[in-house]
Amino acid sequence: METLEFPKNFFWGASTSAHQVEGQNKNNDWWRAEQLGLVPHQSGQAANHYELFAKDFALAKQLDHNAHRFSIEWSRLEPEPGAFDQAATIHYRKMLIALREMGIEPIVTLHHFTNPQWFANLGGWQKPEAVKFFLRYVAYCLEHFGDYVNWWLTFNEPENFATMAYGQGVWPPFKKNWWAVLRVCLNLAKAHRRAYKKIHAKQPKAKVGMAHAMIAYAPANSDNFLNLALTRIVKFFRNDLFIKLLWKHFDFIGLNYYFYARPSTISPANALRSDLGWAIAPQGLTQVLRELHRFRKPIIITENGLADRQDTLRKNFIINHLLAIYAAIAEGINVRGYLHWSLLDSFEWQEGFSGRFGLIEVDLASQARTIRPSAWILSEIIKANGVPTAMLSILNQNKKQPWPEAVKRAFQKINRVNPLKS
Ligand code: FCB
Repeated sequence: METLEFPKNFFWGASTSAHQVEGQNKNNDWWRAEQLGLVPHQSGQAANHYELFAKDFALAKQLDHNAHRFSIEWSRLEPEPGAFDQAATIHYRKMLIALREMGIEPIVTLHHFTNPQWFANLGGWQKPEAVKFFLRYVAYCLEHFGDYVNWWLTFNEPENFATMAYGQGVWPPFKKNWWAVLRVCLNLAKAHRRAYKKIHAKQPKAKVGMAHAMIAYAPANSDNFLNLALTRIVKFFRNDLFIKLLWKHFDFIGLNYYFYARPSTISPANALRSDLGWAIAPQGLTQVLRELHRFRKPIIITENGLADRQDTLRKNFIINHLLAIYAAIAEGINVRGYLHWSLLDSFEWQEGFSGRFGLIEVDLASQARTIRPSAWILSEIIKANGVPTAMLSILNQNKKQPWPEAVKRAFQKINRVNPLKS
């Protein structure tokens, strides 16, 4: 069987974040906002992953995953300033040990959108002391989890967090102040730099990065100067700013990729869309990988997925996005892993449980898990360490989603018969 092979030792797996899956995360700013009705939905029990993690990891193993990204919930570990919780410490060690025993490489995020309530009360990320508080937590994590973790992500999508929480004001602390956004971004960048140094001082061999969201932007009209200029400006702030600020302090870059947008038209009317209406555009992934390649750092796709409760689009989505990555690798771009978002159906922030991103379906009432058929496709790909060409025939060519040009070129380049010709 012919396979479009991926590099050796490629990381294959899925991602989650604490507040979205654990359930009963009572000490953070999101939980408080949920109780006060400041956000539209409540996380409640979520997927009860706090109690069911061993079962969930066993399913990941059954699906052949060799890496798994999850986040440590700062507010569980440090529910009061400087007072760390023993039970939570033991819990996260158990999670790490469980992964290690299964031969699954943990990739650990230290901050994924939520903050301890005490930290929020003291002024959150707007205050310069935020950096000091974060570093105390990082030091504790290194001390207690460092022996099991080689791959650290300091922050998840810091520009997204700053914008939603301090600019658009739809996430806690619900501020609408663009100066605050700037201050928060600078504090997050500083916290990353310091954490990077702290981790390396203790674990010289550790790999430290950040999960960075990128959108593939296209001008609505590339002949129009204003359109082009607008695209560049939006791209600079959303895609480039953090990387430009921090590239010297990355051992690798985590890339979260979901969709593309045309800044002046939002997104094309005829695009194929997920349950949440996000435009699906695998070719955009090749584009953003090329943009990231300028920084010459290894790249791990730390999130990529879609809301698709019925699992009708996910199979194609996975294969097409992997082809887009394959095309990038064929161009010499250093991609080292693919972590699908998400392992489990989870609490989708403002969207609550309406966006079902899981490779594994979760019945919220019974907490039963059901592996979705697309998860088995990914599993077959993992076993082959690449996309078996036989699999390409199961792709339903959709007129709205023509084969990515870059993929066609990749086949030409590696001198293979292009199985995508229809
Ligand atoms: C990303 C977030 C993640 C999840 C996905 C769908 O922006 O990092 O927590 O909500 O979107």
